[in-house]
Amino acid sequence: VRPIRIALLGAGTVGSQTARLLVEQSQDLASRVGRPLQLVGIAVLHPDKVKADWIDPSLLTTDSAGLVTRADIVIELIGGIEPARTLLLKAIESGASVVTANKALLAQHGPELYRAAEERGVDIYFEAAVGGAIPIVRPLRESLVGDGITSLVGIVNGTTNYILDEMTTKGLQFDQALRDAQAKGFAEADPTADVDGLDAAAKAAIMATLAFHTDVRLDDVPVEGIRAITADDIAAAQTEHRVIKLLAVAERGEQGISARVYPALIPDSHPLASVHGSFNAVFVTARAADDLMFYGRGAGGAPTASAVVGDVVTEARHIVQHGMGPGIPMYANIPMAPLDAS
Ligand code: HSE
Repeated sequence: VRPIRIALLGAGTVGSQTARLLVEQSQDLASRVGRPLQLVGIAVLHPDKVKADWIDPSLLTTDSAGLVTRADIVIELIGGIEPARTLLLKAIESGASVVTANKALLAQHGPELYRAAEERGVDIYFEAAVGGAIPIVRPLRESLVGDGITSLVGIVNGTTNYILDEMTTKGLQFDQALRDAQAKGFAEADPTADVDGLDAAAKAAIMATLAFHTDVRLDDVPVEGIRAITADDIAAAQTEHRVIKLLAVAERGEQGISARVYPALIPDSHPLASVHGSFNAVFVTARAADDLMFYGRGAGGAPTASAVVGDVVTEARHIVQHGMGPGIPMYANIPMAPLDAS
């Protein structure tokens, strides 16, 4: 039986944990798919810096462009726009399906990638791009596709939630809490994207695109981060039995779709107030389903790798069964609401 060939781009916090699951669970995964999954290569910039002892050094390569043409499924975990975008387009052109956790790329160039995949007859999966281990992409893309989603409200950045939580519960200063979040592997390579709300905004754009079947980009999402929040603000909120949380909100109103990210004061009795540490949660309201809540570990190597490998198994099963994934239907063309209405 020919194995399903997997190429991995990146061996950082999430990439190395993804390799670990693929290697350590290979027998289980083969039985779930019905065919072995073979990791054919891991592309990294500096092979000598990869220290994970479950990674066979002979798999490491610096030739990412060559690697993507030798796989049935390409997993992109390098982050950033380029070279990730070019490599994924090349993988798709070569007939590979792709799995990515790259929220920044999808929030800016998602429709280009979705269209390229559709035209080439391959699939694109990105459960790990929003909410780490939490299944949220699949419910928006598949389970709720027959309903009418009206709003999403979420805590979708683990780093800022961790920082605000540490400042609230331990009285830590912002800088110390940020350093702790970085040490735990929650933060982006450049934590500015976390702290200034851009990471949450990218996730809001991706969720809104799926929820409203409309192309929503990062530029459509007004953002305010948490840099200006002080210990005094947090203490003042506490005296009023409220907490400060960075929220991503997307809704469909009479004037169209609006999405934004901002630090909000919420009552400490609200369910989102008890989302602590790097955990994330998303509330979804739909016409027929009413309220749903998704909660779990939204950042970190192993939780995010769980979502990545789930996507790999899903696509591997499609390959075995000659099936296709759900696609990204962007048929609705609902306008964005004027910014002053959001
Ligand atoms: N830096 C992101 C976070 C990682 O803190 O949530 C997960 O996307």
